[in-house]
Amino acid sequence: MSLDACWEYSKTRDRPMPLSIIVLAAGHGTRMRSSVPKILHLLAGRPLISRVVDTARSLAPAQLIIVHGQQRHLLDSVLNDPLLLWVAQPTPLGTGDAVRCALPQLSLENRVLVLLGDVPLITTETLQRFLEATPLDAVGLMTVVTPDPTGLGRILRDDAHQVVGIVEEKDASAAERAITEINTGFFIIPVPLLQQWLPQLTQNNAQGEFYLTAIVPLAIQAGVPVVVSHPIDKIEIQGVNDKCQLAYLERSYQRREAEFWLRRGVSIMDPYRFDVRGTVSLMSDVTVDLNVIFEGVVTVGARSRIGANCILKDCTIAEDVEILPFSHIDGANIGHACRIGPFARIRPKTILAADVRIGNFVEIKESTLAEYARVNHLSYIGNTTMGDHVNIGAGTIVCNYDGVNKHQTMIESGVFVGCGSQLVAPVCLEKNSTIGAGTVLTHTAPADKLTLRRAPQKTIANWKRPQRTENKE
Ligand code: UD1
Ligand code: CA
Repeated sequence: MSLDACWEYSKTRDRPMPLSIIVLAAGHGTRMRSSVPKILHLLAGRPLISRVVDTARSLAPAQLIIVHGQQRHLLDSVLNDPLLLWVAQPTPLGTGDAVRCALPQLSLENRVLVLLGDVPLITTETLQRFLEATPLDAVGLMTVVTPDPTGLGRILRDDAHQVVGIVEEKDASAAERAITEINTGFFIIPVPLLQQWLPQLTQNNAQGEFYLTAIVPLAIQAGVPVVVSHPIDKIEIQGVNDKCQLAYLERSYQRREAEFWLRRGVSIMDPYRFDVRGTVSLMSDVTVDLNVIFEGVVTVGARSRIGANCILKDCTIAEDVEILPFSHIDGANIGHACRIGPFARIRPKTILAADVRIGNFVEIKESTLAEYARVNHLSYIGNTTMGDHVNIGAGTIVCNYDGVNKHQTMIESGVFVGCGSQLVAPVCLEKNSTIGAGTVLTHTAPADKLTLRRAPQKTIANWKRPQRTENKE
């Protein structure tokens, strides 16, 4: 089909030209000085490439192509989606060469949106606007004016302010380097035009690469309009080439996240020491003290307070909860007005009902605790179901593991366990039973009774402390 025929064809259809998205991810990322490929480095807890691919997916393209280098097996583990099309670029000869590798996969009536695997914060809204602003027969170019264009391709315009080309920093003259309008690296190009232009690229530049940017003068020569768009927010187009840029991008991201929640009525003691590595939902009057890290999916109810240096991962915290400093909560559900910590560790599959108290150096795993249960000091509770108003004395250990299997412990409501006890699972502590301090409990403790296992106390009369023997040598 000729180019004109393609356009006529696409115009006669009631839906827009189908979209192919190519994500360029084959570069070495040598400037990272890392054994891990650049695009697998994390920004706010997620690999750069996963962010780009998720955004690409949100546009529901007809094709989503990843151009990869040597590290396909590593990418596979983070992008296991059967609908992705994988294309290898055997040698990273430049962005133009990377797109050329994908060319055989592209159908002629599509247009292509090129995304970069190392520009992670691009949003669906900006790309949708980009697609809408670019006519079907034009090349779309996204640019930004920035006070610091260092390292980026500069946009060349003629006297009539028309775009005429893009020059990479390494190829630029001093005057060109002073240009502050830069190439974001995102392009929209109809496939038939790509097919014509890619074979014309040369390696005739400072880096000896096939630059995708060299299609711009080819478009102008061919009389194809080059339509410029801009992102909604400049952070969206920031790329990661080295660990400095990654660290600064991480900080900008987190600052914005903090400001987002501050505007919604959350109190954050220091927005520069607030980290979200996933998705949070914080209700109004939540207070977050210094150095708190949120990972995975976390919800915190109104008026709850998170103390300094806590890590909250994949958990739901109800309203009016107090988490005291240095506590680690992972995969748990914390009920209304609970008080946790300081120095508490709550592990996955733990459910705390309302008004539970967990104190310092307490570890709780895969257990359910009912209202007003208290485990205040130095204890381990695992695979346990605990009733309401239970009090667990300091230093109590649930012995849930026999070296092979985990066993359950049932502690019914109103139970009182004396300090330093060991509950050897499987075992049941019936309602309102009392366990004497220091008991090793191996059988059921009957309801309403005192159960204890304790050797009689004895005192040895006339006992003397051993004396140090003289060394004869
Ligand atoms: C590129 C642009 C530059 C733009 C900048 C925006 C070119 C020639 N330059 O420069 O104008 O300002 O992005 O961030 O396009 N890649 C491959 N195969 C390769 C080379 C690169 O897949 O052979 C991938 C990389 O993995 C990376 C992306 O393309 O994800 C960009 O490559 P990079 O080398 O970082 O280009 P820049 O120098 O940043
Ligand atoms: Ca880059």
